[in-house]
Amino acid sequence: MKSYWLETYGCQMNKAESGSLELGLQERGWRPAGNLDEAELVILNTCSVRATAEERVWGRLGFFKAQKARAARRGRRLRVVLLGCMGERLKAQLLAQAPHVDVLAGTFQKHLLLEALEEEPRAEGDAGPSAGRPTALSLTGREPYRFAARHSPGQPGEFRVFLPIMHGCDNFCAYCIVPYVRGPEVSRDPRSILEELAQLKAAGVREITLLGQNVNSYRHGELDFPGLLERLLPELPQFPEPTWLRFLTSHPKDLSPRLVALLARGGALCRQLHLPVQHGSDRVLQAMGRGYTRGAYLSLAEGLRKEVPELVLTTDILIGFPGETEEDFRLTLELMEQVQFDDAFTYRYNPREGTRAYLLADDVPGEVKQERLSEVIRLQRRISSRRRLERLSRLVPVLVEAPSKRGGDLLARTEGDETVVFPGPPELIGHFTQVRLRELSGHTFRGEKSA
Ligand code: SAM
Ligand code: SF4
Ligand code: F3S
Repeated sequence: MKSYWLETYGCQMNKAESGSLELGLQERGWRPAGNLDEAELVILNTCSVRATAEERVWGRLGFFKAQKARAARRGRRLRVVLLGCMGERLKAQLLAQAPHVDVLAGTFQKHLLLEALEEEPRAEGDAGPSAGRPTALSLTGREPYRFAARHSPGQPGEFRVFLPIMHGCDNFCAYCIVPYVRGPEVSRDPRSILEELAQLKAAGVREITLLGQNVNSYRHGELDFPGLLERLLPELPQFPEPTWLRFLTSHPKDLSPRLVALLARGGALCRQLHLPVQHGSDRVLQAMGRGYTRGAYLSLAEGLRKEVPELVLTTDILIGFPGETEEDFRLTLELMEQVQFDDAFTYRYNPREGTRAYLLADDVPGEVKQERLSEVIRLQRRISSRRRLERLSRLVPVLVEAPSKRGGDLLARTEGDETVVFPGPPELIGHFTQVRLRELSGHTFRGEKSA
């Protein structure tokens, strides 16, 4: 049987698209390779959000070049496919510098990939793979983005799924490459979301995360994001076990009171929200083009804490944006203290060619960025532990995911998407149970199943 090796970089959207690609490959008779040496096809689904994400892929491309030559010496053919945001951003460079890539596809050509893989390689001398030049899929012009019919779960035992409801972004934050590589915002037809939901229900999923760069600006005709949630929630089976619903990512400027009210209602909609603030200084927020002030964010957070006291609130923080002063940075630390985020993803600013911020001097020295980032990480660790310690001794529902690396224990997730490890039988995997939170080890709870 033909076998493939798939590596996915970047965000959950890429992971969801990889899940859908795997389903397509498996329907066409491909299976995942047990190890790289037996694979006939290598697929890299790439990310461009930071230079480091691209550097890793360039490193992997070097490795696969050698791997391909090694396979050829043994009389085997290894095809290399690169797709995704880096394929979109660096088409010309990849075509010129990575001739061992057989097929190159950007964000808007992913749906053509499966058919392209079926095509026989062209004869020596053609401008095809064997001529040492990649086949670039419809590199000219951008077709409208097409949502796949199904994203996962493809494998037995998968019960958490990411379901794209939007694609692209219209916000053009000054630092961010995403709108350039993913194009304008498109909202998926609710009928196709409901159809996918029905398939996922039939496959026995227990948790669905709706995905988009900015889900709060979902709009299809008259239907907005809270309206979509109201359509989906009654479709989720709750007996004999619940199905959880989450969504990612929310933009503070579009978070509506209706959405907060839905979160407050609880039930199948998890009381968890990822609400990236990026920075705590108005000057920097304005230069980033985020569309809200520090004060507006603080009052949103205050309202959320009041109306949804159980909410697990997380964020993204971006340190070292051009012109960031020590005072701007201190304002970010203060904001973190005020909001008391349950967790934060923290990044150091990285100039991306083509963005507005690329034209500004990247004037915060590397070591200053690093010191500031370390300080932010230290502070967040303290806050995260404090918030989690407050919840010790509570009895909470968890979804059991897998055996834990520690023998005999199980790994599970709370409604707030936090990790809990507890002793229990493997039959619980894929099911909900009640666990009492007993200890905290780093960011992980240790718990005890209630009798
Ligand atoms: N749509 C989401 C939002 O509005 O927050 C974010 C999506 S982006 C893929 C994830 C995170 O990457 C951002 O929140 C930002 O903190 C970070 N990021 C984006 N561009 C970056 C850059 N040029 N350098 C460092 N981090 C960056
Ligand atoms: Fe990037 Fe801003 Fe769009 Fe998020 S909202 S993807 S940070 S441009
Ligand atoms: Fe990366 Fe593209 Fe996602 S740039 S973060 S894979 S949208």
